This record gives sequence, C-alpha cells and structure tokens, in this order.
Amino acid sequence: MSSILVTGGAGYIGSHTCVELLEAGYDVIVVDNLCNSSQEALNRVETITGKKVKFYQADIADQEAMEKIFRENHIFGVIHFAGLKAVGESVQKPLEYYQNNISGTLNMCQVMREHGVKNIIFSSSATVYGDPETVPITEQCPKGQCTNPYGWTKSMLEQILTDIQKADSEWNVILLRYFNPIGAHKSGRIGEDPNGIPNNLMPYVMKVAIGELPYVNVFGNDYPTPDGTGVRDYIHVVDLAAGHVKALKKIEECPGIKIYNLGTGKGYSVLEVIDNVSKAVGKEIPYRITERRAGDIAECYSDASLAKAELGWEAQYGMKEMCEDSWNWQKMNPKGYR
Ligand code: NAD
Ligand code: UFG
Repeated sequence: MSSILVTGGAGYIGSHTCVELLEAGYDVIVVDNLCNSSQEALNRVETITGKKVKFYQADIADQEAMEKIFRENHIFGVIHFAGLKAVGESVQKPLEYYQNNISGTLNMCQVMREHGVKNIIFSSSATVYGDPETVPITEQCPKGQCTNPYGWTKSMLEQILTDIQKADSEWNVILLRYFNPIGAHKSGRIGEDPNGIPNNLMPYVMKVAIGELPYVNVFGNDYPTPDGTGVRDYIHVVDLAAGHVKALKKIEECPGIKIYNLGTGKGYSVLEVIDNVSKAVGKEIPYRITERRAGDIAECYSDASLAKAELGWEAQYGMKEMCEDSWNWQKMNPKGYR
C-alpha cells in the first residue's frame, strides 16, 4: 500500500492531520526538522490512534535526506505543512522565511518529480486574499497584497505550484486556504504549543487563562465591526485536519489544480472569543484595549460552500467546542510538550 508523506507533521495542524489520516486507514510518514515542534507530538499521535508513524527528522531543503525518504517508501502524495509561520518574525527575517518556505518547497517538488510523485496538498492561508473587498470571501476573490513576507511565501508558493501543474498535467495540486485554526484534539494529548509569548489570539488567551500572563491585549476596538474588534473565521483544528483527508480523496480523482477555503463561514470578534473562553474556563479572562497591530485587517471570514460542494467537507465544531478543547489541552499540558 502506498503512503502519505506529511511534511511538518510534528507541528500543530500536522499532528492533528496525522491522527485523521491514520484513523482513515492511511500509512503515514512524517518529515520534520523539529524547528518548531517536538517529536513527543508524534508519540502522542501513536497513543491516540494505536498506530505507528514512520518519522524522519530532516529538513525538506536537504536533497539527500528527501531522496532517501522517497527511495525507501512508496509514496502516493505529499501533504505539505512544513514552513515557518510567525508573521512578525517574517518581517524581521525575510531571507530566512523565503529560504525556508520557498527553497524548501522547490527542493521537495524536484525530488517528488524525480520519483514520479506528483500529488500535493499545500497549506495555504486566507492571508493570500490580503484585505478583502467583501466578506464572506470566496475562492473567486482575487488574491491581494500581503502585509508581510510570511504571507508572500504562501502567495508565491501557490503560484509556483499552479505553474508546475500547468506545465505538466500529471500533477494534481490542491491549495487549501486555512482561516484561523484553534482548538485541540478531544483527548487533550495534542494541541498548539507555541514557543515563548504567543502571537496569535487563542494561544495568548490560553496563557492568560492558565495564569502565565496577566491579561489579553485587544489590538484595537475602532474597526468597522459590530463591537469594533477584529473579526475572524476560527476553525477547529480537527475539522481542518479532516478537510485534508477529504482533499486526499479528491486528489485520488486526479483533479488537476483546485483551491478550497477551509473555514466555518462564520466570523467572531476578539471580544466574543474572550467571552467564549471565559465560559469554557469558568472564570473571567481579563483584557485591555490597546493600539491596533500593524498589518491587521478588520474582518476576514470564508464562504466555505465550495469545499462542501466538491469535497463533501464542512466544519462540525462551533466556537464553544473550540474554546473547551483549547482549554482542555492547556489544562492537561500547562507546559505544552515539555
Ligand atoms: P507549526 O509550526 O506547528 O508546524 C510546522 C512544522 O513544520 C513544524 O513542526 C516545523 O518544525 C516544521 N518545519 C518548518 N520548516 C521546516 C523545514 N524546512 N523542514 C522540515 N520541517 C520544517 O505550524 P502549523 O500551525 O501547524 O502550520 C502548518 C502549516 O499551515 C504551515 O505551513 C502554516 O504556514 C500553515 N498555516 C497555518 C495557519 C495557522 O494559523 N496555524 C494558518 C494558515 C496556514
Ligand atoms: N489579537 C488580539 N490580541 C492578541 C492577538 C490577536 O487582539 O494578542 C486579534 C488580532 O488583532 C485579530 C485577531 O485577534 O483581530 C486574530 O489574530 P491572530 O493573530 O490570532 O490571527 P490573524 O488573523 O492575524 O492571522 C492568522 C495567522 C496567519 C494567517 C491568518 C489567515 O496568524 O498566519 O490567520 O489565515 F495568515
């Protein structure tokens, strides 16, 4: 039986996707350099599923290491999560971001081609839409100006993969544009484990909930939204992971190039998220209104109907479960995987 290679599989979304793949009966191989993750996540994937993951600790830019993986395994396709993803850091270190995300992917695609593996599902982001003219955002909305190098790596990699497919119709490429993944596996064994002070809202709120940080900074309350704070389409990471299994089924039909939004179609403001976490935790989460964060947009939420129509995928979990499951993971693992 052929296997699925999951790059970045030890990371937050990757580990949850490994669980869904194993439970759907796929053999899973992970390549990860562990620059932003822990191998412990994969041990826990094995505990949850009772199945083995074949792990290679390597960089996707390492040609020899990648060759070895493709030589030693019969790989059907790649689900490509590996990449650096911190927006602020990407502004400080553009070279590192372009090098890691773009060169790494180019190297990997070259090795894939050499081994006749031409199926890839790529982790893109709603960030490629820039500041959308209208919400909800459909896949027809034009791509926009990104506000940081991280976003540009996603936008550029979408173009690169599109061009590769255009030149050789044996390739099947699915670009998945994620909205804002939060939550954790029900078991509380795997979840998001950021290094240092979190940049994203939910992990930050969790640090406040557990008492490591005093209050949440709400970045602006003067946006043109109902309560003035930013609105996003938060999606449960287990739903997102399930979307990858559906995308894989689609790839098996040789679809050429496809693009899908993965979101719930519903927006929540920062204050609504804080309120929902307060309910899940059973105590008020303190917050202060501060300045807007540079590069932030007012509103971003998906029209998720294409994924429903073509993949048969739709989010199952709501904000309540997202907050409860984030908190369950945080409580069970106050120091993450350490
Ligand atoms: P993550 O940092 O938890 O996972 C990424 C994994 O890739 C990590 O385990 C890291 O060690 C590994 N990695 C990075 N560079 C590598 C390299 N050169 N070689 C091998 N391994 C490497 O991040 P995540 O939240 O799970 O995100 C997964 C993917 O989804 C990323 O591509 C990210 O950009 C994209 N994405 C994430 C979000 C989000 O909000 N979390 C939103 C949209 C898109
Ligand atoms: N926010 C706060 N305080 C915080 C952190 C965030 O008020 O401490 C606000 C932001 O201003 C925004 C909302 O919470 O209104 C969500 O912010 P996040 O940083 O959690 O998420 P973003 O929507 O800014 O960005 C995320 C990922 C990007 C990805 C994008 C679209 O970080 O990588 O979603 O998918 F590109």
